[in-house]
Amino acid sequence: MKDIRNYCLKEHNTFKIDVLADRFISFDDSSEFIQFAQGNNALFNNKFLITGEGSNLLFTKDFNGTIIHPETKAIGVVRESSDYIYIKAEAGINWDDFVADTISRGGFGLENLSLIPGTVGASVVQNIGAYGAEAADFVDSVDYFCLSDFKVKTISKNDCDFAYRNSIFKNELKGKAIVLSVVYRLSKNAVCNTSYADIQNYFKAGEELNPSKIRKAVIDIRENKLPDHKKIGNAGSFFKNPIIEKQQFVELIKKCPDLRYYELPDDRYKLAAGWMIDQCNLKGYEHKGAAIHENQALVLINKSGKTTGDEVSELAEIVHAKVFQKYGVELEPEVIIL
Ligand code: EPU
Repeated sequence: MKDIRNYCLKEHNTFKIDVLADRFISFDDSSEFIQFAQGNNALFNNKFLITGEGSNLLFTKDFNGTIIHPETKAIGVVRESSDYIYIKAEAGINWDDFVADTISRGGFGLENLSLIPGTVGASVVQNIGAYGAEAADFVDSVDYFCLSDFKVKTISKNDCDFAYRNSIFKNELKGKAIVLSVVYRLSKNAVCNTSYADIQNYFKAGEELNPSKIRKAVIDIRENKLPDHKKIGNAGSFFKNPIIEKQQFVELIKKCPDLRYYELPDDRYKLAAGWMIDQCNLKGYEHKGAAIHENQALVLINKSGKTTGDEVSELAEIVHAKVFQKYGVELEPEVIIL
């Protein structure tokens, strides 16, 4: 375990914002951390934040509290049935390493989620998703450390209230749970999910597919479209794709027949925020040290390498205002602004 005061967070957020945390606690052994936490209850009465790789955070100022950072990395098969393999992974494992590992163990399904930045712990908090799949489709259960009674609890997938980029960990259990590990239930039979147009277009018609090929396709597509945060600071999609009611959709589509959208099963419509931002001619737009990515308008970047969280936040305001002016739709950040 590490317990450090006045710790620089630049390497702990993918936007590469240079801020300090009052205190930074990391651990690579859950039991050691649990023992520590049980003996230091008071720590959790003050401001704290649990971070993975900081791939969905924007710091606008120093963090006046404690960062708790799991670096636990154990992984193993916990059970198997004829159709499924259940793999338990600790919170600190890099998500893409985990995806690669599951495929090599013959557990399929996560290949569409290849190369998403972040950790296994964050995957369930945020219910990460891409290319026609989301974490919730494969979660079996989550073990977390409960900060109300300082015990380890297990919650099953059905109780996690998973929704688009959302879960119980962002709502009822916000600030009350530290995800320790996740059991993913993966199929032993390779069923390739090519529902997303980008993936279909990647392959030749009739080409025989397997999960490794899908993984490679997703990696190629992402590398082409999305900036690598190791080279240029960013936090993936900055905004969520907004969901609107049918009535608003019907009006909007009359005015903008070329609108890009996905129809949801509940009669609502999810709009492609990246497309709307692009239509406002904002690709490549710069504001101080921040900018909108040239290839994917949903991504804001630390263009100068030295931008501040406030500058990125101001840029987000500009985007919000322009999209609202043109489409009457409010964009909501996916990134957590602190
Ligand atoms: N589009 C444009 N211009 C742009 C960006 C997008 O015209 O600058 C169009 C695309 O051509 C497409 C539509 O908008 O017709 C949607 O774009 P895309 O397929 O690239 O996906 P997205 O809706 O922008 C979502 C996720 C991504 C995920 C991709 C692929 C959200 C907020 N974002 O983006 O997730 O990788 O789908 O499944 O749901 C993330 O959350 O950090 C993230 C990168």
